[in-house]
Amino acid sequence: MAKAHSLALRAITGFDWPAAPRFELRRVVDLDGRAAEAAAARWGWQAHGTDWRAVTQADDIDVVDIITPNDTHAAIAIDALKHGKHVLCEKPMSNALESGRAMYDAAQASGRQGVVNFVYRVWPAIEQAKRLIAEGALGEVRLFDGHFFQDYALDPAMPFQWRHRRAVSGGGAFGDIGAHIADIARYLVGDVSRVAARARRFNQRRPVAPGSSESVAVDVDDATMTVVEFASGALGTIHASWAATGHKTDLGFTVIGSRGALRFTWERSNELHFFDQDDPVDRGGFRNIVLSGHHPGAEHFWFAPGQGMGYGEAFVLVVRRLARAILNGEPASPSFEDGLRCLEFVQAANQASESDGWVELTPYRGAAR
Ligand SMILES: NC(=O)c1ccc[n+]([C@@H]2O[C@H](COP(=O)([O-])OP(=O)(O)OC[C@H]3O[C@@H](n4cnc5c(N)ncnc54)[C@H](O)[C@@H]3O)[C@@H](O)[C@H]2O)c1
Repeated sequence: MAKAHSLALRAITGFDWPAAPRFELRRVVDLDGRAAEAAAARWGWQAHGTDWRAVTQADDIDVVDIITPNDTHAAIAIDALKHGKHVLCEKPMSNALESGRAMYDAAQASGRQGVVNFVYRVWPAIEQAKRLIAEGALGEVRLFDGHFFQDYALDPAMPFQWRHRRAVSGGGAFGDIGAHIADIARYLVGDVSRVAARARRFNQRRPVAPGSSESVAVDVDDATMTVVEFASGALGTIHASWAATGHKTDLGFTVIGSRGALRFTWERSNELHFFDQDDPVDRGGFRNIVLSGHHPGAEHFWFAPGQGMGYGEAFVLVVRRLARAILNGEPASPSFEDGLRCLEFVQAANQASESDGWVELTPYRGAAR
């Protein structure tokens, strides 16, 4: 992910000219010193190293960008906030509720900005969906049907990595990519109040290295399917699998309201489909809205409607929000609170998948309250 982040940090100044600051790429660190050295050479980081404290505690650094495995986010973020840095942190915010809450408290206490990289939610089509819902174009939102299906972990020969160990990742497919669609569900429809779930593991063990006959036990889900109730009374489903045959990056949803409906999939990410119940019956149907500079966030990129944006531009949009939050004191979004609400939902779904009932969500409001 250092690739996508470095690209966005370098590109933001040009795209958001003259409002955006220039991010100087001061120091990149990785436990693997050769990886840090390569990242520095590829992307123009001025220095590299292996100890993250050389970033979180450095006097010449204002912003810390955390792109490490999930169980390391909390220690790095809390130290950075304590040392007066703003923080951009990858999702999921952490691997456990307790550390996620500590991160939230640290951000509240610091007065610094904390952004969680829900990179899909900032996408112009999602923002346009949000705008249509807020304008009442869908009427009362009744149903949300969302999924994130990828096939990158379908192959049983894929070697074991940190994502496959719950103590490190906090969960499997649902915590890894389900987090994105869960965040979008909450962004569009509101807080989830309770969840019921079932999970499946398709690969019980994985090789320790490519081609190795030695293997390690996996203890996370390859797929989780949930039914949710939103606080608004709307009903939903939120599903995820990273072993979904044929699905590449199918982050998709349908939102159904009393007067209209929306459909989206990332595999056609420059389109949003909208149905308006008020259209004449003889020509009604889902219309295909093609993204252009008229849609929120897209105005920073290309001239002609339909030229298209992609994954890389989404990271630029997150960095732009971070920059705006720092410069103007605007509330950061997606924030550490968004990150914590998502973590609470994922952990509740994991718990629900091991029981027969509903699991109620209890949002943490902070140590201070
Ligand atoms: N927003 C997105 O679309 C998206 C996509 C992929 C991954 N992610 C998130 O990004 C994070 C990283 O994922 P990845 O796929 O790049 O992982 P990765 O395993 O490819 O890279 C992680 C890097 O962190 C280094 N590292 C581990 N512990 C460290 C420590 N204590 N100090 C310094 N470096 C350390 C590793 O050596 C490795 O180079 C995860 O939180 C993941 O969930 C987000």
